[in-house]
Amino acid sequence: MKRTIWAGLLALVLIGSLGSQSIAVEPATSIKSAAEPWWKHAVIYEIYPRSFADSDNNGMGDIKGITSKLDYLKNLGVDALWLTPCYPSPQVDFGYDIADYTAIAPEYGTLADFDELVAEAKKRNIRIIMDLVMNHTSDKHLWFVESSSSKDNPKRDWYIWRDGGGDTMPPNNWLSLFGHSAWKLDPKTNQYYYHFFYAEQPDLNWRNPEVRKAMYDVAKFWLDRGVAGFRLDAIGTLFEEADLPDNPVLAGKNKFGDPNMDNVHNEKLNEVHDVVRELRTVVDSYPDNRVLVGETSARDINELSLTYGKKLDEFQLPMNFFFAFVNKLSAPEFRTRIGEWDKNPAGGWPLYLFSNHDQIRHYIRYGDKTHNDQIAKLTATILLTLRGTPLLYYGEELGMENNDPKSKEDVQDPIGKTGWPDEIGRDGERTPMQWNSELNAGFTAADKPWLPVTPSYKKYNVVAEEADKNSILNFYKELIRLRRTDDALVNGSYQAVDVQNKDVLSYVRKGEKKSVLVALNMTPESKTVQYDLKPYGINSNSAKTLLASPHNTPSSANLRNLTLPPYGVFVGQVQ
Ligand code: GLC
Repeated sequence: MKRTIWAGLLALVLIGSLGSQSIAVEPATSIKSAAEPWWKHAVIYEIYPRSFADSDNNGMGDIKGITSKLDYLKNLGVDALWLTPCYPSPQVDFGYDIADYTAIAPEYGTLADFDELVAEAKKRNIRIIMDLVMNHTSDKHLWFVESSSSKDNPKRDWYIWRDGGGDTMPPNNWLSLFGHSAWKLDPKTNQYYYHFFYAEQPDLNWRNPEVRKAMYDVAKFWLDRGVAGFRLDAIGTLFEEADLPDNPVLAGKNKFGDPNMDNVHNEKLNEVHDVVRELRTVVDSYPDNRVLVGETSARDINELSLTYGKKLDEFQLPMNFFFAFVNKLSAPEFRTRIGEWDKNPAGGWPLYLFSNHDQIRHYIRYGDKTHNDQIAKLTATILLTLRGTPLLYYGEELGMENNDPKSKEDVQDPIGKTGWPDEIGRDGERTPMQWNSELNAGFTAADKPWLPVTPSYKKYNVVAEEADKNSILNFYKELIRLRRTDDALVNGSYQAVDVQNKDVLSYVRKGEKKSVLVALNMTPESKTVQYDLKPYGINSNSAKTLLASPHNTPSSANLRNLTLPPYGVFVGQVQ
């Protein structure tokens, strides 16, 4: 059975001496206000290192592989790379189980390789954002090895240890997001430890000041090496209520066969804000506007607003999926989501994304199987013309799709093994990057990549798409070029227009002199729109075409009678 979306499970807000190595690189855009931090106008690109490029042909991607592709990324128009974890790890959760926070996994390279990546990226004005997993470590981390060695070990209190609730009973009814009890009995000391994710990912005790200091030191280690900031993993689960009250049980069962549960006592506790503020102070003590991106899956805009901090002193860029999970081409739904985020109560800067390593790729989430390529261009247009920072997931610029495992035996992601067939895991969206139409899509010369390439690679790959002027890749490049160079797309406010239209999503990026109108037909039929933009201070009746797809629109368009083909995209200049 096809899973819906993994993060649907994620009903949670995954919300010394300071070095001063400068990472000053050029602005992320060619037109922008000097006072603005780079991340407001950056295009951020997520890389899953294991799947991007394999330099030593062992079937897994690595750091040198990423470095070898920097020219491609530069050419695409990327300003910053978010690398999912590449620290030493038993790879139970493919890097999200960290065994050493201040080194690079040997299978991905060395610290010297990492330093080279930062330096080579900097030459191309590309910054590196690291993934920081603060909620838990690997059970192979020395901290946990020590902590579990005896009840009186000095690191015992670095993790959450409790006595059982009776014969063979865990301390309470809390469940792991990845299935079954969140407690595991350790026979050595006959106590249970708490793990919100896999049992191999024990939760750290964030009420212990030594833990806090150790993790802030980790942050400084990477900031000193020149990273531009962090994406903070699973931030909403840092704290649990100390007296461990049972969570309310809801009706029905989840994909692992466990009862549904409302995690009121072990998620989104207020103390999370203190930690994010503390880390922000660390990050802010470095020059060059280092950034905190948060994995914050808020339920709604009010909850999301809290993650910016009361004084905008927490996340600069909290992530959220209520935009990505519209999951149907609905003009009213997108209008609502964008409007809310653009005018969020905190006044925070929006971060828009459609896909990541935990979600089914949006090429197929939105695709109707007939117009998928055109729909990919339409979603790209939304992402890259809004007032906010776009976050791309590697390969979306090619129209990469999922390649889901066909049987339980093929699954690599442990949740797919525990939850099969209702939960098939996340392998499908983590397949190798499609570089060319040759063996293994040019990802590796090994016989077998760690995950099989998606069969669509013969057509959807970098080499083929660079040569095709109508490709999805060239459309992304053109959009990124426009958002860098058009003053209204850089600085303009966002204004929804034609707001009653159920089929066509239209908005204006209102600049000082010139503005940009974006019109997106979200239906499989042609649609004609009549605009009156006078109420928005725009008097022209025609628009100069900046970008249109399919490519059949003349150099200007009549705003009183603009016809958009099925899933047609029009971006035009108005004044
Ligand atoms: C985040 C990551 C996910 C990981 C989990 C546990 O949600 O995005 O991939 O499995 O945290 O670290």
